[in-house]
Amino acid sequence: MTETKHFYQTFQPTHYQIALDINRGTKLISGTSTITGEALESIISVHEKYMTINAVTVAGTAVPFTIDEQAEGLHIDLGQTGKTTVTIDFTAPLTDSMMGIYPSYYEVNGEKKQIIGTQFETTAARQAFPCVDEPEAKATFDLAIKFDEQPGETILSNMPETKTEAGVHYFATTKKMSSYLIAFAFGDLQKKVTETKSGVKVGVFAAKAHQANELDFALDIAKRSIEFYEDFYQTPYPLPHSWQLALPDFSAGAMENWGLVTYREAYLLLDPDNTALDMKQRVATVIAHELAHQWFGDLVTMKWWDDLWLNESFANMMEYVAIDALEPDWHIWETFQTSDAPMALQRDATDGVQSVHVEVEDPAEIDAIFDSAIVYAKGARMLVMARALVGDQALRQGLKAYFEAHQYGNAKGADLWAALSDASGMDVGSIMNTWLEQPGYPVVTAAVKDGQLTLSQAQFFIGDGQDAQRQWKIPLNSNYETAPAIFETPTVTLGTYQDLRQKAGEPFQVNVGNNSHFIVKYDDTLLTDILDHLDDLDAIAQLQVLQDLRLLADGRQISYAKIVPLLSRFAASDATVVNAALYRIANNLKKFVTPDSTEEKALRALFDQLSAQQVARLGWTPKATDTNDDQLTRPIVLNAALYAQNAQAVADAHELFTANAAHLGTLPAAIRVFVLRNEVQHFGNATLFDNLLNEYRTSTDPSYKADLSVAVTATTDPTLIHKLIGVFEDADTVKPQDLRSWYRGALANDAAQQAAWDWLRNDWQWLEDTVGGDMEFTTYITVTAGIFHTPVRFAEFKAFFNPKINTPGMTREIKMDIKIIESRVKLIEDEKAAVNASVAQQTQSK
Ligand code: BES
Ligand code: ZN
Repeated sequence: MTETKHFYQTFQPTHYQIALDINRGTKLISGTSTITGEALESIISVHEKYMTINAVTVAGTAVPFTIDEQAEGLHIDLGQTGKTTVTIDFTAPLTDSMMGIYPSYYEVNGEKKQIIGTQFETTAARQAFPCVDEPEAKATFDLAIKFDEQPGETILSNMPETKTEAGVHYFATTKKMSSYLIAFAFGDLQKKVTETKSGVKVGVFAAKAHQANELDFALDIAKRSIEFYEDFYQTPYPLPHSWQLALPDFSAGAMENWGLVTYREAYLLLDPDNTALDMKQRVATVIAHELAHQWFGDLVTMKWWDDLWLNESFANMMEYVAIDALEPDWHIWETFQTSDAPMALQRDATDGVQSVHVEVEDPAEIDAIFDSAIVYAKGARMLVMARALVGDQALRQGLKAYFEAHQYGNAKGADLWAALSDASGMDVGSIMNTWLEQPGYPVVTAAVKDGQLTLSQAQFFIGDGQDAQRQWKIPLNSNYETAPAIFETPTVTLGTYQDLRQKAGEPFQVNVGNNSHFIVKYDDTLLTDILDHLDDLDAIAQLQVLQDLRLLADGRQISYAKIVPLLSRFAASDATVVNAALYRIANNLKKFVTPDSTEEKALRALFDQLSAQQVARLGWTPKATDTNDDQLTRPIVLNAALYAQNAQAVADAHELFTANAAHLGTLPAAIRVFVLRNEVQHFGNATLFDNLLNEYRTSTDPSYKADLSVAVTATTDPTLIHKLIGVFEDADTVKPQDLRSWYRGALANDAAQQAAWDWLRNDWQWLEDTVGGDMEFTTYITVTAGIFHTPVRFAEFKAFFNPKINTPGMTREIKMDIKIIESRVKLIEDEKAAVNASVAQQTQSK
């Protein structure tokens, strides 16, 4: 890699005075950025992007500068080094890219309105004001903002407002912080506020298109999260307020701006009377995630983006730690097991995947490392391993010391390991670096060889993989005492199996709790023993059996056909984690069948067998007596029954639809999506389609809107499919932030796949212009690769994306996705016959 020079090496700002005048009408920003700092070189560099620089002055005198578009900045010739104050006058456009300073659009009572907000991470602060836009360049900021203000509008920023003069809003000087965490917003907002025990003002803000009670849930979770973190981290929340703001247009899920956290509406607001438990949990964990960052990320920030995991992996773990403390009855770690664990295990098995710690320089590449499966899910699993190793007491003590040492400054990964090592007396870094610095993860093979119980480790791949002889320091968590706590050699022998088995009185297991990032391949003896004692296993262990078999089948170490007969043994479980793992496998079988074939019929029959009892037990309507597991399992099994085309299920859903046709939004949120989709699939027509589309346009409930989009994208009518694709580019119907899930829905629908795929290829340029500046752009490729599974689509995918392979930020994604589809196509080709025979046998024998 070529050595890139960071601007911070030329100029180290200590304080900014930023004045902005923002006009929604003309879509123009004009401003000045006055930066005081230390020039280390006589020519300093400052970031700006898409700006017109009108003047650069030092002490009132113009100084020469050059624009460097490539480096996204300007070079200013000061003529000398040392302390200086530079003033930059600029104008910039207000763009619709959901980056920098941008408008969000919404309607209240038929009136079109805008909220202006900001999104600066990773490198868009430079679109708002000239600055040294690197995380290490921490400084204090004074903000003064003027805008085309209307009566009753509210303006918010990281710090409280101190005064308004001549229409200019002045904010208190920030703490020392990174530019990517600056934020402000203004518009016609409603709010709910409260205070923590320690006196921090907590607030939730949203457009007035929403009911006031939609803010309540978030306010409660935000307040209690801050209280939790103040206690857990033993470090006070450092600012006077913590505002949570829902923006109608938002690219990411949420953003941890210090003191002014911004969210997608779907991740902050909810109808307290009709929201499914999983959505409540999601909103709660998102809030807890962003608030974890207020310390980890905001108070202490990674020195450079290569250590992004210090922010994201950590916040991803802490969202579960916090919510588990706030809502213990939710058993939120089970969600970690059904979402983060499989996501990490799947993606991290593809050769070419990045490691959690990854070198980056190019801004386009920085956005690409925010990979939810790696820096989030795998990184969080890595920290879960670290937490289990050192224990909560040492973790908290270590964190406290880490915050004390680095607050208002920056840190590297090694600093965290050092703090945890000091607190625990263990060499945490030497274990963790094997997970942090290496891509992939091991499969541990457990086998009885010549009577000896032996373990070995090797990297696990799905698809072709170059074995680089990687080894990990694996926290084994075995139920047999003789197994080492950390398995760090290629193989180990644990002793005579017969003796060990007899002494233990239970089957041999490793990775008890499924908290270490590896999978296990038991030989026939050991697996049979486990399966013979299935009922003695707890739910997580059962999930793990299914999870590991599934991955081994994807990795071609066993056959899917062998798993099929096992499925029914898990089908009666009350546990959501087991059902989630079970139906993940069942859903994987769908790719082995051709639409409308006898194989598909047999598979539907299998789904019916698996789900019938559970559907009878749980029914369609949520009950007051439901356990959390019941609430979360119901949607899984209803979905299965509908795939099965179970006549009763189809009729029940239709009846619910008919009874609620006048107020579909009030259908119980947990099952609403199935009722709507069923109606479109089995009783659909143009009128229904238009009605649902209209509901989508007018509703302000994000969960309901998501359900509606699933329903309309399931249409099989060619005319309606044409109409469906037609709204993709109509921002008044589908906001660009939501388009990807529409695209995914259509692409996963056999009848609409061709149209959706044609749209993507034909209108790629439009997509790039609309969401290209956005960090979610490459996920259109990921989504496509997640669905394609035929040789024809594979060829088309390569033909379309291969020519784009050198686009910055897209290279790794395209390379990996090609491998992902390739291995899936091959899997199907090789195993289709055996899998379908196995499915047929299951359904005949019953
Ligand atoms: N810092 C991120 C938001 C972000 C992501 C900014 C990518 C720039 C590029 C934020 O803390 C985050 O992780 N958001 C998640 C939601 C979350 C709770 C998992 C997101 O946006 O997906
Ligand atoms: Zn985050």
